[in-house]
Amino acid sequence: MLIWVTSSISITEIVVKMNQYSSAAILKPLSITDLAAMKRCGEKISCLTAYDASFSALIDKVGVDMMLVGDSLGMVIQGHNTTLPVTIEDMVYHTRLVSAARQRAFIIADLPFMTYATPVTATKNAAKLMQVGGAQMVKLEGLRIDCVRFLVDQGIPVCGHLGLLPQSINQLGSYTVQGREQADAEKMFADALNLQEAGAAMLVLECVPATLAKVISTELTIPVIGIGAGVECDGQVLVLYDMLDIGLGKRPRFSRNFIKDAANIEEAIKAYHQAVKQSLFPAAEHSF
Ligand code: KIV
Repeated sequence: MLIWVTSSISITEIVVKMNQYSSAAILKPLSITDLAAMKRCGEKISCLTAYDASFSALIDKVGVDMMLVGDSLGMVIQGHNTTLPVTIEDMVYHTRLVSAARQRAFIIADLPFMTYATPVTATKNAAKLMQVGGAQMVKLEGLRIDCVRFLVDQGIPVCGHLGLLPQSINQLGSYTVQGREQADAEKMFADALNLQEAGAAMLVLECVPATLAKVISTELTIPVIGIGAGVECDGQVLVLYDMLDIGLGKRPRFSRNFIKDAANIEEAIKAYHQAVKQSLFPAAEHSF
């Protein structure tokens, strides 16, 4: 960028013009290559869940790098006990609201329960999230190598999700830390490598011991985003309603009440974003 300096333009005007140029650049949505570059440079990636246009605009304004339209909306928006009742129509609707108000943040949308039972089903549903919803990436839970490969072959960016898998709650029995035993940790590590090899461009680790999450984050080349997985992940995600302390149930131990010390919601989101960037969140008390 070249700014022609004449006697009729002041330093302040130059600064204002530079800010205009740089904010125009910042307002372009981040891409998966931007996020991969952040991992390579050691810059932490901040992410919050979002489900509507008002929160999307606020989260985006603060500079949070990614928004996840999570199927956690089944619990925090719809009031269910699990994420299982969430439909693809619900996800498309909320993703559309979030993407309509976003300028910079990268948008990931969850494929809900039973919408990726086969690779073809997964592709049809992922296409809806991207074409109608405006998502840039879809997330699916577990070791679904067949679906990941198929989606990636169609040009659909995929985020894997290992550790605690809320869509499998009826198999798990309770929402507890995963990968504590050596054999389970080894399997999770192998699963993470296999997802990356199948083409996943990002991985979420939920409720995983911090030491295991550190190993996985170090060994994988793709960004690893933690929730209850310690500070050594490449980035962090929290459920928005938990960190604002407006969730319906008890706030999980790995989350933090950011509204407590903030003047308003925007300040709380800013505090979270900065704490992630500076590796101040999660602290030991939020980790396993
Ligand atoms: O649905 C969701 O909000 C999620 C996060 C807990 C990672 O998947």
